[in-house]
Amino acid sequence: MVSIEPSILAADPLRLGEQAKAAEDAGADALHIDIMDGRFVPNLTFGAHIVRALRQHVSLPFHVHLMIVEPEHHLEDFIAAGAKILTVHQEVSPHLHRTLGKIRQLGARAGVALNPSTPINTLEEVLDLTDYVLIMTVNPGFGGQAFIRSQVDKVRRLRALLEVHDRQMVIGVDGGIDQETARLCVQAGATALAVGTSVYDGKGTVEANIAALRAAVRRRS
Ligand code: DX5
Ligand code: ZN
Repeated sequence: MVSIEPSILAADPLRLGEQAKAAEDAGADALHIDIMDGRFVPNLTFGAHIVRALRQHVSLPFHVHLMIVEPEHHLEDFIAAGAKILTVHQEVSPHLHRTLGKIRQLGARAGVALNPSTPINTLEEVLDLTDYVLIMTVNPGFGGQAFIRSQVDKVRRLRALLEVHDRQMVIGVDGGIDQETARLCVQAGATALAVGTSVYDGKGTVEANIAALRAAVRRRS
């Protein structure tokens, strides 16, 4: 089954708790929380205190996606605040092996995100330490961007790489996911979808939007 992770970045900032709860009530599998630092990516978003505040409000697992330089300095804070999956970017992690080991040691599942320009073979040496690979289907930094179609083939190649190495892990995609692009990604091998705008865009209820995504990925072909 495909996991759906609504991205709270696209929610109404004055109603974060309520909108996280709406995702939980609608049967979302996790809440995706985007942390941006204004350095690795141009935008600034939330700190660990927001993750902690949300943690008091819902019991959904939290996937915290760190789009920050030197993420290794913030692992403890975000895991203590409630991250169950903690994802760092390969591009800002020269000591990725150590960082992933540390995330697991702190009791969370270890994720690696790859920008659209980052090749998947950079993961080969850390597959045994990785629980989750997040393929960015936009250049990170903003919600509401257009899906980059070349990344579908990257998902397919990642799936094949994992098969060659006999490794199982979550393959997530993040950015520009709607009913159509969700289906393409799932057909290529994605097992998790981070979705901001298509869940919280106000066009339908959170519940209806999540149900529509689920229906779209069930119609696989
Ligand atoms: C982008 C973030 C995404 C973002 C997705 O840098 O990592 O998680 O919230 O938003 P949409 O679904 O609007 O592209
Ligand atoms: Zn994200």
